[in-house]
Amino acid sequence: MATRRKLIVVSNRGPVSFGRVNGARIARRGGGGLVTALAGLLGQHEVTWVASAMTDEDRAVADENAGSALDDVARDGSPYRLRLVGHDEEAYHRYYNVISNPLLWFVQHRLWGLADGPDVDPGMWKSWREGYVTVNRAFADAVCSELEREPDAEVFFHDYHLYLAPGVVRERAPAVTLLQFVHIPWPEPEAWLVLPEAMRRAIYEGLLANDVVSFHTERWRRNFLAGAVEHAGAEPDLDRYDAALDGRVTAVRYSPISVDPEEFELLRSSEAVLDAERALTSSRPEVLVVRVDRTDPSKNAVRGFRAFALYLEAHPEMHGRIGFLARLAPSRQDIPEYVDCLAAIERAARAVNDRFARPGWSPVTLVLQDDFAASVAAYKQFDVLLVNPVSDGLNLVAKEAPLVNERDGVVILSETAGAHEELEDFVVSVNPFDVAAQAEAIHEAVTLGVDARRRRLEGIRARVREHSIHAWTAQQLHDLDEAPARHDRTLRVP
Ligand code: F6P
Repeated sequence: MATRRKLIVVSNRGPVSFGRVNGARIARRGGGGLVTALAGLLGQHEVTWVASAMTDEDRAVADENAGSALDDVARDGSPYRLRLVGHDEEAYHRYYNVISNPLLWFVQHRLWGLADGPDVDPGMWKSWREGYVTVNRAFADAVCSELEREPDAEVFFHDYHLYLAPGVVRERAPAVTLLQFVHIPWPEPEAWLVLPEAMRRAIYEGLLANDVVSFHTERWRRNFLAGAVEHAGAEPDLDRYDAALDGRVTAVRYSPISVDPEEFELLRSSEAVLDAERALTSSRPEVLVVRVDRTDPSKNAVRGFRAFALYLEAHPEMHGRIGFLARLAPSRQDIPEYVDCLAAIERAARAVNDRFARPGWSPVTLVLQDDFAASVAAYKQFDVLLVNPVSDGLNLVAKEAPLVNERDGVVILSETAGAHEELEDFVVSVNPFDVAAQAEAIHEAVTLGVDARRRRLEGIRARVREHSIHAWTAQQLHDLDEAPARHDRTLRVP
């Protein structure tokens, strides 16, 4: 059996969030992709998870445990330590709602329409200094205090909320091993010019304070290395995929995240999923197009509805026979861009129905709800799965849904989703902006022969089984073991 390691996992959203019902404290265990992905680590290693206190009750828990972690038990019964970092509310708002989302999220998914935004005005700078920098320092403080308790622990940072924390930790604990996994796209150097020099340099320097920085795809890795040279003056080693800065070497790696196929095997026949599936099949059309997403501008839901309208226009023979079920979980509704996105989605869905609906048939069903069991039921029932993001770090829906699908369904996938690197041989590829091509892709998917459909679905399943979440986790631990700091590699800079 592998030795137990000491790991400090650091992410903005933690595996549990506290609330109050009828005066009593309750713990809500998050089921998001990141939490599920890291669940396996908790059972096998000694993990302390550092996360933001996000609710009032989280903040109360953080206060009660002032500067320390509490003992918690994960969904599968594994014990771990949880350290909630309580932030000043104003600082957290600036960090989460102004800088992380939308500023960084929009830069990295290339969502800004640059004639209109972003405005890096004094308010944005204040949010950077008194929000993003402040909250990252608070995370770094918490990590350093955990390192005082366990000096041998390795630190595993996650995502775009925490680009500056590794630099602060590195200053105070020069020998510690740090790995950061970035779960969203890393655009080419040019895209970062949207941010002022000081911000983009700080982001790159913060990330290069890690021993390993990792992404979902080869393309994001390539972009990061190019940007490290251009924006931080790092020295690249393109044979080893390393970048050297200030006498230190950072390994730049990639490894697409995945899911646990066994978990989906169990889920498919769980009571909750079967109930939701019964409700769905009682009214499903002959051909069902499905999408499952958050209401995020990067997910491109509006163009998906436009493409469906073009398809209906071109194929009157399918009227009354085909339906589009969009299950979209409302997301980040404290951010104006996300409020607008949700409203635009509702308008676009309504426009299709206003135009094509007839008695007894409504082509689009829009469900604005986060209900995983109902989503898995939709995964089982789709004939066509539309995954057309503008840009996506990976996209887990494209891996999850085929695992449980029971109708030889076809996946339509954006060439700009990270998962496309792995799945392109088994999907109908689309350009996310080309709604005409997406309409044609729906037709292609609907008319594809059963053998071809089955072969593609099996191809995706085989890939996901082979590169499951266990393979991804093993790769992260391997990258930690191989971290340049451990080998004390000196620079080969002339
Ligand atoms: O990696 C992107 C990510 O942070 C995911 O981990 C998560 O599923 C999603 O974005 C939602 O983010 P939030 O915590 O803002 O709801």
